[in-house]
Amino acid sequence: MTGEWARFDGPAGTQVVDVAIEATAAWQRSGNNANSHGSFAAAAACDDLVETVSATMGELLGADPGCMVFGPSTTANMMALTRAIGRGLGPGDEIVCTMLDHDSNVAPWLLLARDTGATVRMAELDPSTGRLAAGSVIDLIGPATRWVAVTGSSNAVGAIPDVATVTAAAHSAGARVVVDGVHLTPHRGVDVAAIGCDVFTTSSYKWYGPHAGIMCVEPGLLEALDVYKVRPAPDSGPGRLQYGTPSWEALAGIDAAARFLLETDMDRIVAHEAIRFARLIEGLHGIDAVRVVGPPDTVDRAPTLMFEVDGLAPLAVAERLADERVAVWDGHNYAVEAMAPLDLDSEAGAVRAGISLYTTDDDVDRLLDAVRRVAGSGSG
Ligand SMILES: Cc1ncc(COP(=O)(O)O)c(C=O)c1O
Repeated sequence: MTGEWARFDGPAGTQVVDVAIEATAAWQRSGNNANSHGSFAAAAACDDLVETVSATMGELLGADPGCMVFGPSTTANMMALTRAIGRGLGPGDEIVCTMLDHDSNVAPWLLLARDTGATVRMAELDPSTGRLAAGSVIDLIGPATRWVAVTGSSNAVGAIPDVATVTAAAHSAGARVVVDGVHLTPHRGVDVAAIGCDVFTTSSYKWYGPHAGIMCVEPGLLEALDVYKVRPAPDSGPGRLQYGTPSWEALAGIDAAARFLLETDMDRIVAHEAIRFARLIEGLHGIDAVRVVGPPDTVDRAPTLMFEVDGLAPLAVAERLADERVAVWDGHNYAVEAMAPLDLDSEAGAVRAGISLYTTDDDVDRLLDAVRRVAGSGSG
């Protein structure tokens, strides 16, 4: 599937599983490309597809199937959501964001604050562990807090904060909660009902499916939001927050990818990834010239890490690894706020490597061998 490359770029997007590729192609060949709510068979097939993929997503996320909003990406979904939320906010209202989050769960809130006069308060990481303690978010929640935006797992260093505890504290203060589940969903079983959050986001291209974003919005909230929408769009349900005709082929692929995750079983995925992640982190800790950034251990953590090599820019390391057909990302990876507390340059960031379901021991050994060679060659 991944050719001769050892692929550690899964946090930025995985390869697509065959069943999702086939489902996408089958939809496009089916003659059913049409639109919702028509009087003919192909239109009914579009409605059936929405119902099917919503039910599958409900099963995957432990959430109400009627709350699934499908969009082009999580970033686009967050912009639509926050634009609607902003119509009800003003000066004196507060939003709590975190330094562990991807910018798609920070910048939309900053823009909203700029436009409405609301205030964003940033929960800080523990710089010594790279983790976000629930308490550091909860301490910022007060009577003025209207929304809390927190990641389910860091796409930079994998840390998994206790979002259920944060959600309970926010709700008891009368605030609502958005959990960014994009990096959590491929690596942990998700139970939105147990987390209790009002909005949960995920992107299917991070879990072996097509490029799309799925946002699960608590049904009461979905109806109450003062959304920006075109007049003929539905006045009720997920269609309120969906802009234009959905990508039917993507919906078919999302359904197949979500079924693949369900059938593979999350416990097996966690077990497979944990073995390779332990091999990777132990190997990197054993290389003198390498500094592993963020949590030193694998507890409460998706199998994703960042590291630096003494004397070499992260980009140079990534390029040298690419010469050996090992794919890693460098930079901040959109985890903009996390760079300073992790003691990283705001732009250059660090090298990021993530384990996916298709990562093998051999892939890990190839990365470690390549890093040893790069580290041994000093700053050349
Ligand atoms: C944790 C996290 N949140 C949000 C996003 C944004 O997802 P999308 O590309 O679907 O907008 C990403 C993408 O890398 C991510 O890793």
